[in-house]
Amino acid sequence: MMEKIEQYIKRLITCLQITKIYTSGHPKFAEGLNAAFDSLTDVLREKQEFTIGIIGYELAYEREIFFELSQKIKSAITILKKKGIERITFIKGIDKEELSKFIEYLAIPETEQPQDPQKYIVAIGIRNIAVSKIKSSDDIAKEPGKEEIRDSEGYYAESLKTVEASIEDVLGGKTIDGVDFRFNVIGVMENLMKKHNEFLKLAAVKRYDATTFWHLLNVSILSMYFSWKLGFSKEDFLDIATAAIFHDVGKIFISRKIIQKTGALSEEEFDIVRSHSSLGAQILLKYSQTLGVIVPLVAFEHHLGYNCKGYPKLNFEQKPHIASLIVSICDVYDALTQRRSYKREYSPALIYEIMMKSKGELFHPELLDSFFKILGVWPFGTLILLSDDSVAVVREQNDNDIFHPIVEVVSPQEKKSHINLADSPNLTIKRFLNPASEGKQYLSLI
Ligand SMILES: [Fe+2]
Ligand SMILES: [Fe+2]
Repeated sequence: MMEKIEQYIKRLITCLQITKIYTSGHPKFAEGLNAAFDSLTDVLREKQEFTIGIIGYELAYEREIFFELSQKIKSAITILKKKGIERITFIKGIDKEELSKFIEYLAIPETEQPQDPQKYIVAIGIRNIAVSKIKSSDDIAKEPGKEEIRDSEGYYAESLKTVEASIEDVLGGKTIDGVDFRFNVIGVMENLMKKHNEFLKLAAVKRYDATTFWHLLNVSILSMYFSWKLGFSKEDFLDIATAAIFHDVGKIFISRKIIQKTGALSEEEFDIVRSHSSLGAQILLKYSQTLGVIVPLVAFEHHLGYNCKGYPKLNFEQKPHIASLIVSICDVYDALTQRRSYKREYSPALIYEIMMKSKGELFHPELLDSFFKILGVWPFGTLILLSDDSVAVVREQNDNDIFHPIVEVVSPQEKKSHINLADSPNLTIKRFLNPASEGKQYLSLI
């Protein structure tokens, strides 16, 4: 019985993932629904009804916990928890339409969530599934503000794990579950669109954790946010985000296999590093069926540059794809925030200056302008020291003035206020405070 239920859960989740990627009218959905329904019928042949529950972050049937399965379907368990569902009962007599409606209900984004899940599913005509809500106090946010941040951070960490695992799989030549991966990317994206400020804030802080995987996730979040703001369709910015996650796969491969030294690189070694774009594309080409063709293309072109004078050197004319141009801006931006000289990090204003020097060469001119217009020179969540020595956090951008954002003074306490720097000529930004070092004490105020 356990195996049958496990198989049913797997198929149900696959179907839910398909709904998030395609629509319920898509043939892939019908295929997934048929498989899930067959499994369910199989279980209900032997039972009048059965209930699956969530204990902590594990899925359980009666007293048995599906440990392994729970690990694999963490994102789906999180969805159920966020909906406040801790028990689902499936009752004999259920038809395919009811199951289909239930899956569609599970796929509803958090923002449009009906208040009472049980009432809602009855209202849409589901008679043979019952759900019950979580009542335990630790599952209910006591401090909504704080919970929200912890939640995004948890989500960020979870996403990072997914990214790491998928990249490990690609590097190891394993087959990766494209549906599950895209589903997770969509999860990140939906959260990003809803709470983009939370994510940008996290990206502003995490950017100083200079690890490759943070870099990949940061570039992905930036690329997603940027292309979303540029007006790309959901499908397109999903592709761009996926491409951003994998853009440096070749580099990880090389650094593991060849370069292990920390000192200066020889010209020869530089050439090896430069080969990461074509190597990455080669690795990713094997996954174009599951991840799409944009992914290897962006890996190949992300250092090519708008003027095609970067690398790899081509002996034919190739205009880089817009996805590559977007990822390349976000990539350099994130890499520069991690760069240090004489123990000092690059300030956002310096990064702006450096990048503007390559406008029209490495970077597409209009895209670069749009990037800073959207992100601002001082991005959301940046910690700064003002000319009167107060500490402030960037809260909003001014559409017509990328240099002067709206900030919130967080220290000293008595000066606490929101100030539009565009309207305050006497107050200027003295410098940027790194949240990982001198700005650490203000971290909780960001
Ligand atoms: Fe790269
Ligand atoms: Fe990169």
